[in-house]
Amino acid sequence: MVPLIEGFDKLLHGGDYNADQWWAQHPEVITEDFQLMPLAGCNAFSIGIFAWSSLEPQEGVYDFRWLDDIMDRLAQGGHKALLATPGAGKPNWLAAKYPEVRRVLPNGEREPQAKRANHCPSSPIFRQKLAAISEALAQRYANHPALGLWHIDNEIGGEAPDCHCDLCYTNFRKWLKDKYQNLATLNQKWWSMFWSHTYGDWDEIHPNDAANEGLQLDWKRFTTEQRLKGMRSQIAAVRQFSDKPTTTNLMGAHQPLDYRRLAEEVDIVSNDSYPEWNGQPDQWKTAAWLSFCGDLMRSLSKGKPWLQMEAAPSPTNWQPYHRVKRPGVHRREMFQAIAHGAEGTLYFHWRKSRGGGEKFHGAVVDHDSGSHTRVFQDVATWGDDLKKLTPLIGSRTPVQVAMVYDWEVRWASGITCGPGGSVGSPEHTFIAEQDQGHWAAVLRYYRALWRNSVSTDVICLNDDLSQYKVLILPHTFMISEDQAAAIERFAAKGGTVLGTAMSGLVDETMLVHRGGFPGAGLHRLFGLVAEEVDTLRPEDSQHLTFASDNPLGLSESVQAGPYCHLMRPHPGGDAEVIASYGEQFYADSAALTRRQHGQGAAWWLACDCDEDGTEAIISALLNEQQIPRVIPKPSTGIHATERIAEDGTRYLCIANHLDTPAVCDLPSGDFVDLLGNNETTHSERLHLQGNGIHILYNVS
Ligand code: GLA
Ligand code: ZN
Repeated sequence: MVPLIEGFDKLLHGGDYNADQWWAQHPEVITEDFQLMPLAGCNAFSIGIFAWSSLEPQEGVYDFRWLDDIMDRLAQGGHKALLATPGAGKPNWLAAKYPEVRRVLPNGEREPQAKRANHCPSSPIFRQKLAAISEALAQRYANHPALGLWHIDNEIGGEAPDCHCDLCYTNFRKWLKDKYQNLATLNQKWWSMFWSHTYGDWDEIHPNDAANEGLQLDWKRFTTEQRLKGMRSQIAAVRQFSDKPTTTNLMGAHQPLDYRRLAEEVDIVSNDSYPEWNGQPDQWKTAAWLSFCGDLMRSLSKGKPWLQMEAAPSPTNWQPYHRVKRPGVHRREMFQAIAHGAEGTLYFHWRKSRGGGEKFHGAVVDHDSGSHTRVFQDVATWGDDLKKLTPLIGSRTPVQVAMVYDWEVRWASGITCGPGGSVGSPEHTFIAEQDQGHWAAVLRYYRALWRNSVSTDVICLNDDLSQYKVLILPHTFMISEDQAAAIERFAAKGGTVLGTAMSGLVDETMLVHRGGFPGAGLHRLFGLVAEEVDTLRPEDSQHLTFASDNPLGLSESVQAGPYCHLMRPHPGGDAEVIASYGEQFYADSAALTRRQHGQGAAWWLACDCDEDGTEAIISALLNEQQIPRVIPKPSTGIHATERIAEDGTRYLCIANHLDTPAVCDLPSGDFVDLLGNNETTHSERLHLQGNGIHILYNVS
């Protein structure tokens, strides 16, 4: 049993604690905070995230008085600090004295000192100043008993991680020179003769040229690289004095930065999570999205436990509606992180601030203070629950199914003009930011897996495939030769791959693959060629008709579209047709096929299908592959995951994500609920209340 913080054998519970806002003027508030913390069952606090100006009120002049006091009180209370490097909010003195630290917008304007997370990622002075304060923090608190983790920065990059200043452009051109060596290669890879944009000089390269899709993609990659350098310099600064683990809070599948790369830099992956629960029957889709984020975090951390760094104990102040959490919702939401491998749930924020833009953002402690609020009590209840869940520490989730969600693929499909990006977009734009392609398909296929309660890893194309039995490629628009070869090997060695519409159209520089789609030889793996792609209008219709006696055992037709590839067999191809199109002029042609390849099989689903159709196909494929569900397939809204402890105990984490009661079947055996009162359930059926949660282990 190895907890996230060595020697601290607890699941973490707490939140962002902005004590610096209160310490000097309102010491009574600080006193009250420390009285309330144990009442809320909290034990871990993120400190100093936005405290740079209070820690360094003038350049090079440090003031650690408040932090000394808070760290000491945390230690006395038996709590842990997740101490931040304070890069997300830059002090006014820094922005005024060194204007170059302020980001330049795509239109060339340098931003005023405003808001946060908007520094120039290349600025040497910014990096140097941030490293200096980070190092000073590490030197001072490295051996402090309260120090638990290093919270590196905050939501790195924010919404727009790039900067358009001269230095960033110079660095981009250097990065391109390293990558392509010469302009002739770059011009070829970017196909820059298109519209006569051939580059004769590196200085002609300007990231604002939306017509150059290869350039757009490289700019995003470069931006991630810049942010990695910023992270590394903060980590190196704290490492001068401290070997405590590092983490950084990601934002789920947030698309601007390649989080797979950021995750590689830290010891512990953590996530910020703000679902909106609408209380409607389709609320399960929000739950499925949250599960997706959890599976993504567990996969980014290579199966190791992760941390939910932020969530709102009550509504945020920035979402369209501020619907308060209904009874039971908070507990279910927090449980979901644990069910997907988290070993702690923290909040933004501990206490509502009195002023500033987040004074009405949900918090454990309201303006009204005290422990009597409904929200505080919900948090305290969950704090009690977490104490019962310590047997989960160090447990892992066995997984046989992987689904690709790849940031680079998402960028490529979003950048693309034409099929691959979004369908039905009102405007013809070169940068289809709606990115309906990969992302929309990822969520649809994930929901299909979720409805089956099958444990799933969410992986990038460069990840190791060897541990999986089934691999799903949802609209995997961009696939390189190497990645295609890995997919082929996966099948040859016995894996089952499901390729889907709009996969393998371009290579890693956005050049269309030659020799047939899906490209890079994948048409040979699947045994057929995608010749045209139809995107159906709302008034068009299409469906799949299954062949009799097909190995999926499906017979009911399935709605198809908007994307429908028109397929022709690869010459000499031996793909078996499982389902054909039922309408339009391409009726009777292949829509779902299967081809034996080496020890494994390559399935190709040539079109999108609607929600239920996707689920039917995925469910049948899981049956065909004998992939176990965690519990017998439940009704939509109930979901189960599993965590297996080192001693082999298998914990079934089951939740009802709807407000209404429901029932599900259990595997055979006698179970005890970790969250219950030690009574043994002999029943084969579990009755769940609306928002009910259970963590069952087998005692028979
Ligand atoms: C993000 C930030 C926090 C806070 C919350 C509000 O997650 O990291 O500082 O602004 O949003 O929801
Ligand atoms: Zn810049």
